[in-house]
Amino acid sequence: MNKKINAAVFPVAGLGSRFLPATKATPKEMLPIVDKPLIQYGIEEAADAGITKMIFVTGRNKRAIEDHFDSAYELEAELASKDKRDLLRIARSVAPKGVEFVYVRQSSALGLGHAILCAKPALADEPFAVVLADDLIKGDTGAVQQLITASSNNEGPVIGLEAIEPHQSRAYGIVEIRERIGENVIASNMVEKPNPEDAPSNLGVVGRYLLPYEIFEVIENLPTGSGGEIQLTDALAVLARRDGVLGVSLQGQRFDCGSKLGYAKANIEYGLEHSEIGNNLRAYLAGLVG
Ligand code: UTP
Repeated sequence: MNKKINAAVFPVAGLGSRFLPATKATPKEMLPIVDKPLIQYGIEEAADAGITKMIFVTGRNKRAIEDHFDSAYELEAELASKDKRDLLRIARSVAPKGVEFVYVRQSSALGLGHAILCAKPALADEPFAVVLADDLIKGDTGAVQQLITASSNNEGPVIGLEAIEPHQSRAYGIVEIRERIGENVIASNMVEKPNPEDAPSNLGVVGRYLLPYEIFEVIENLPTGSGGEIQLTDALAVLARRDGVLGVSLQGQRFDCGSKLGYAKANIEYGLEHSEIGNNLRAYLAGLVG
């Protein structure tokens, strides 16, 4: 039987500096892919995996996210009065049914490990998921569900992995492989953003994790890591060296929507599948390259 994960943490307090000026007053996770903000894809993925408690770690721009998942009386009243039922249904279905939203604050962006530590008071002593919504993964089965399915009875951390090109290693946490289990691995160590010649493998960590509650104790005892930040990779490396960490090769197409190119590609791929614009976008792109 798969383990039950009840809560997911969404760190959305990063500066998003690669997307300035768009992210000056708006969290990066509110940037839309076609017509839906990145964070909504992440929430839907977690809800599809049976998660009912969504914990946002927000920074200075929490308002837009909070408003997005709250009801919008004026908008709904306006749409209802004009009998725009389809739009009303879209506006009302942003928050999945039966899901609770909790907001905690990271007062300054001290790194992903620190952001996750900020969620501790909102979590019970049980494993939880972490979703970095700017890593958008398009596939038949959601990435969180893939981790849950692969984790089985594994008590330790479970991390999403992707094979990367050597020159990309400086953008990823890279795992050292102790053992291969089919497509998946047991990692014996992890290194944050190594140079290609120092990368211990070609497997990069992507933004989906199942973490045991004990990760907090490890983060609390970490020295400050690369870039003066408290890195999640360093905490995972401690657990990998001690007990090993299960790394799951995620199925699906991943878009790094924290980068401009990845974001543009995601808009094209999701646009091509969009019922309203897909055909016209395809014709337009064919005209561009034809
Ligand atoms: P990134 O490494 O992409 O950093 O964070 P960033 O600040 O968002 O973006 P750039 O590099 O300045 O453009 C990965 C994830 O961790 C969250 C971010 O919101 C993003 O979801 N994060 C990062 C925090 O919540 N707090 C932090 O202190 C750092």
